[in-house]
Amino acid sequence: MLEVSNLQKSFGGLVAVKSLSFQVPDDSILGLIGVNGSGKTTVMNCINGIYHASGGSIRFNAQEVTGRRPHDVTRMGIGRTFQVPRLFRRLTLVENLLIPVIGTRSSNKALTAQADALLAEVDLYRIRDNYAEELSGGQQKLVELLRVMMFDPALILLDEPFAGVHPNLCRVFTDQIMKLKAKGKSFILVSHDMTSVYRLSDHILVLDQGETIAEGDAAAIQSNPAVVEAFLGR
Ligand SMILES: Nc1ncnc2c1ncn2[C@@H]1O[C@H](COP(=O)(O)OP(=O)(O)OP(=O)(O)O)[C@@H](O)[C@H]1O
Ligand SMILES: [Mg+2]
Repeated sequence: MLEVSNLQKSFGGLVAVKSLSFQVPDDSILGLIGVNGSGKTTVMNCINGIYHASGGSIRFNAQEVTGRRPHDVTRMGIGRTFQVPRLFRRLTLVENLLIPVIGTRSSNKALTAQADALLAEVDLYRIRDNYAEELSGGQQKLVELLRVMMFDPALILLDEPFAGVHPNLCRVFTDQIMKLKAKGKSFILVSHDMTSVYRLSDHILVLDQGETIAEGDAAAIQSNPAVVEAFLGR
């Protein structure tokens, strides 16, 4: 589904991503882990067009993504959530879900029904008319995922969905991810919550200073000395 080849991103003299290559197959979850500043968010920003890559290519279902603007990338079928949620704070929950899709395909009535169903599924329907700014941090992350789901993207980039989120809400999140995966969606999951990454990911990529230092399944990563050293020191 996604093929990243020799991706590079520099900020002046700082090379945040150094010639990174990886693939995300259909119907799979790629876990992207690494210490703070290792380049995880930068990779996501390059994929969805917030940043212009300094080099390399990103292909999505054989179409070139590199150089496209974020709304084009979204339209191609790549959705994302942010490390710090970016909701419209002075709009209601249901408006937050509707604003990006209104006028795109279905009728407003059908879109509203879809938004209400998503909110009901995570027990937020009862506060559908509250302003987004009234939500807790964890709830904002969840509403951001619902907003992404309104687009029905094939690939979803999740940046730290579990950070600062209570285990009960993490479970709601995880259930949503598993349900979407069962429907054929793929994910890139960036998280410092190793237990969740190990449990959810089909394949894991470990970044250190913008480079892959290890990749494999959870068992391989957990026992890899380079990973242990990068995370815990010698
Ligand atoms: N817009 C920017 N301008 C300058 N430097 C940046 C910018 N965005 C990221 N960087 C730098 O790129 C490097 C990678 O940052 P990035 O945000 O991708 O890390 P991360 O792995 O997501 O870290 P964290 O786990 O803390 O979220 C860091 O050194 C950071 O300072
Ligand atoms: Mg980050």
